Amino acid sequence: MSVKQRLMTLGRHIDEGEREHPEATGDFSGLLSDLAIAVKLIWREVSKAGLIEILGSTDRQNDSGDEIKKLDEFANETIYRAMDHGGHLCVMASEESQGLMKIPDRYPKGKYVLVYDPIDGSSNIDANVSIGSIFGIFRRVTPSGPGTEEDCLQSGYKLAAAAYVIYGSSTIFVYCTGKGVHGFTLDPSVGEFLLSHENMRIPKRGKTYSVNEGNYEKWDANVRNYVDYLKKDDPGTGRPYTSRYVGSLVADLHRNILHGGIFLYPGDKTYPEGKLRLVYECSPLSYIVEHAGGRASDGTGRILDIVPTCIHQRTKLFIGSEEDVKEAEDFIQGRRIA
Ligand code: AHG
Ligand code: MN
Ligand code: MN
Repeated sequence: MSVKQRLMTLGRHIDEGEREHPEATGDFSGLLSDLAIAVKLIWREVSKAGLIEILGSTDRQNDSGDEIKKLDEFANETIYRAMDHGGHLCVMASEESQGLMKIPDRYPKGKYVLVYDPIDGSSNIDANVSIGSIFGIFRRVTPSGPGTEEDCLQSGYKLAAAAYVIYGSSTIFVYCTGKGVHGFTLDPSVGEFLLSHENMRIPKRGKTYSVNEGNYEKWDANVRNYVDYLKKDDPGTGRPYTSRYVGSLVADLHRNILHGGIFLYPGDKTYPEGKLRLVYECSPLSYIVEHAGGRASDGTGRILDIVPTCIHQRTKLFIGSEEDVKEAEDFIQGRRIA
């Protein structure tokens, strides 16, 4: 008989992790469990997204008489509503909300802060291509009461945990609390996330690059040079690399964590600072990738060291296998040319 993976639910894994900290209050596992519920509600909605057209129900109303919302908005609200009353959080911030998302006065304020991208890869929704969600959890820095912007504007290295979800051919929840990166696949028949990818490690080098190459003409010479280099035929160094670009950062990154490779969204003429959001996308994913043995950079320095000055701040991103990201940095900083 082959040795099978332990049958482990996400909830149990979180509890066991917390038990290793005798001082833990249970707050953290409560928070992650609430998050898993929000994710299941989003998964349910994502999986019927295609039916909305068929049922002709774009203007249908829900039980409360509200019009059914777009998936971005639905996910944004669902996460907020699942997390606002548990007493674990003092404030939230989301890519889809302009300002801070305060915890209502009537609910207790906790010691954690949640930052999130409710739906990543929104442009892929109606094409039935994988999309995701991204979460970062910080400990608050203000002492008590409602959380403030200061609590949200923390560098990624201070994250207490990060997670991402892919709603794809199956739904996978990947999380890290600083002790390994672990993936759980949703078994829809029982509604449980089951451990499927224990202690994920990204290969030191890959042979895949992910970038929106339609922007080639808008990049500076160093970025163009790097991508030209990846495409050159030189079997001795594994080139040319294979190009894979889903257009959902989470899906591209998940593939690269499993098989190795680099994802880049450099600055370009439209987005000189890069397009992706530091707080909701780049910091949490960089935290996960570093804990899986990879590297994440803005081309000149570590993403996790950047101190955000604004919650919606954008950054350039080079993330994935360690050797690939180091090589990209050499090109971006002009130390190498193709
Ligand atoms: P979001 O859907 O949260 O706005 O994120 C989209 C991001 C990311 O998921 C993806 O890699 C990238 O934007 C795609 O951008 P381009 O269409 O410019 O390539
Ligand atoms: Mn996104
Ligand atoms: Mn988004």
